[in-house]
Amino acid sequence: MNSKKITYKGLGIVMVLFFIFSISANAQWNVPDHVKNKKAPQDATYELIKTGKSVYNKKCSSCHGQPGKGDFLKLNPAPADFGTSDFQDENTEGTVFFKLDEGMGGMPSFKHQLSETDKWCVTFYIKSFDDNFVVKGEKSSSIKTNLTVSSDNETKKLKVKAEFEDKNENLKALKGADVAFFVKRYFGNLPIGNAETDENGNAEIVFPDDIAGDSTGNAEVIIKFKDTDAYGNTTVTKTVSWANPVHYENPLNERHMWGDRASAPLWLLITYFSVVLGVWAVILWVVFQLTRINKLAKK
Ligand code: HEC
Repeated sequence: MNSKKITYKGLGIVMVLFFIFSISANAQWNVPDHVKNKKAPQDATYELIKTGKSVYNKKCSSCHGQPGKGDFLKLNPAPADFGTSDFQDENTEGTVFFKLDEGMGGMPSFKHQLSETDKWCVTFYIKSFDDNFVVKGEKSSSIKTNLTVSSDNETKKLKVKAEFEDKNENLKALKGADVAFFVKRYFGNLPIGNAETDENGNAEIVFPDDIAGDSTGNAEVIIKFKDTDAYGNTTVTKTVSWANPVHYENPLNERHMWGDRASAPLWLLITYFSVVLGVWAVILWVVFQLTRINKLAKK
């Protein structure tokens, strides 16, 4: 009897908690008017947005996902997707800052978790998905970059020269940029090395020994900047003949269950034909016995 009472009590407590929770779940943001027009102490720049992006990926993306992808945690109420125009239209710079500072319900407060600068940087990053958001300074990915590649057959070295276009459209050596090398594969690209450009914009790697190529040992190398945000998607490719030749057997040429009649597995053919022959043998034997009965009757 007692245990039943306790379960009723427990049920009551759960229901009350659920009730409280459902009220708090429906709470609304209470954003004071003066906050909506609040501006950051400094202008947004691409540098600060970049900092904001890394703060966002560490502290926010686990719940909010990537802006515009809709891959936020399925909570109720749902964490906002900052890539939507609905969100951007409703939330000014000051509102975003206020909300992440205060928190509400499932949204933690970051008041003491992030520095003032980091909070503004995340705000800039979130607002950068608003088409009307103004960013000061030059967007670094708008600089024009150029990659040229050469190869040395003797040493199996891949050399690349990185340049950028300055304001007067002159090509200048791009130093200190990380360049990544890949070999093209059926599914994605296989990284084979990284190198940083020196003061003349040059970087090189030695092609590894253990790369499988096509039947003649050719492989396509793809070279691009690691930091595509800073230097853009400039990419060069080069075919080298330094890979190990590999002859691929087309699996469709072998005998397989899924093959047509001509390429069916031998065991299947043997089984099939012995069954067919067996059945015919029995039929013929029966017919033969019937004719014998006929003959015996005539005698
Ligand atoms: C533990 C999960 C979680 C984390 C981590 C998190 N949020 Fe949230 N966030 C939420 C939830 C849930 C809501 C919705 C709250 C509500 O509407 O009741 C929300 C709402 C918001 C809103 C308001 C959205 C709107 O539609 O008004 C902003 C702005 C926001 N979060 C910013 C951030 C930022 C910036 C970070 C990282 C510094 C962050 N959040 C980290 C869960 C999280």
